[in-house]
Amino acid sequence: MLNLERLVPAHVWRFEVYTPSRPDQELMRLFRVDHLHRLNNNENPLGPPPEAARIVQGFPPRLAPIYPSGDAYALRQILAGRFGKSPDQFLVGNGSCELITSVIKAFCAEGDTIVTADRTFAVYEWVAEFSGIAARLVPLMDFGFDPKGMLAAGDERTKILFVCNPNNPTGTWWDTGTLRRFLDAVNGRRIVVLDEAYFEYVDQPGFPNGMDLLDEYPNLVVFRTFSKMYALAALRIGYLCGSPAVVDIVRRTHVVYSVNSLAQQAAAAALENDGPFIARTRAMVAAGKDRIKALCTELNLPCQCGEGNFVMIRVPVADTLLYRKLMAKGVMIRTMTGFRFPGWIRVSIAQEEVMEVFCGAMRDVLRP
Ligand SMILES: Cc1ncc(COP(=O)(O)O)c(C=O)c1O
Repeated sequence: MLNLERLVPAHVWRFEVYTPSRPDQELMRLFRVDHLHRLNNNENPLGPPPEAARIVQGFPPRLAPIYPSGDAYALRQILAGRFGKSPDQFLVGNGSCELITSVIKAFCAEGDTIVTADRTFAVYEWVAEFSGIAARLVPLMDFGFDPKGMLAAGDERTKILFVCNPNNPTGTWWDTGTLRRFLDAVNGRRIVVLDEAYFEYVDQPGFPNGMDLLDEYPNLVVFRTFSKMYALAALRIGYLCGSPAVVDIVRRTHVVYSVNSLAQQAAAAALENDGPFIARTRAMVAAGKDRIKALCTELNLPCQCGEGNFVMIRVPVADTLLYRKLMAKGVMIRTMTGFRFPGWIRVSIAQEEVMEVFCGAMRDVLRP
């Protein structure tokens, strides 16, 4: 007889499952709308870049029966050329989410801990906890990662520090000096993961490029993704880069063949001539943020507008109620209660017309 009490580890029992959003068609039926503006997942509606779009459109069915390159061989060569590294310094994953799992598995055993912020991308915390590894969560300071708090939270069993730069959902960021001081203080005693999922959106002097620090800090691991700027979220592909010694360890716990051929090819194509596409997307994001800031002034709503293709807005009603009211107008935003920011929403930036729809819907719903 099935005895789950005996089979399931206590930390798995304790873990509360995250329920992803239902499919758009289902939501449209539930909320009786014929269109949905997806402002909930920080997707890039302008993409993918044309070179990647051509690959997606032309993927030959004859390649479907054939396994992909098990270690994204060609893509790693391209990444190596682009960043001036060795291909062996890269690992490609089924989204950067898979890489979070690989790094935690590689360095953490029972009783070890990781440290991150209390209000950041939740997957670091989730993967640790469902793997039986305690996550020590450091409160944000002025909406940003607190470097001193992160250093103080570590104990002798802390293996990995996760830093999200810029932070999702607050958009705050560490400048090069702050990051360097942090890495100097860690002094190679722990792995530092620098999640740069939104790196390509940032155009700020003083914003660090983790790739440039890898030679100096062999305990640093940089995460990037093709889901955000490059608009390939559906294909699930991201990568990490680190020192050869560290990547050699992570490779041991990383599932081979987890990244499909189409994703590998589209990602390679996305990098071919990404300058104009990135410039267009950044212009859309800058205009969209201006629009949202004006709305927040008009409606007197506090707004946390940092880097990345999203902003947070404090709303005078329950965020979950606002979600339902906006959904009834075909606008899907992210409630922030689950991110430990009750009373806030996060809105992804899209084209001007879509921002107008969002602003109109907010006015209708919030104005007395
Ligand atoms: C900070 C951060 N890291 C990683 C990811 C996951 O990206 P991927 O789609 O590559 O798994 C996200 C996605 O929302 C994110 O916001």
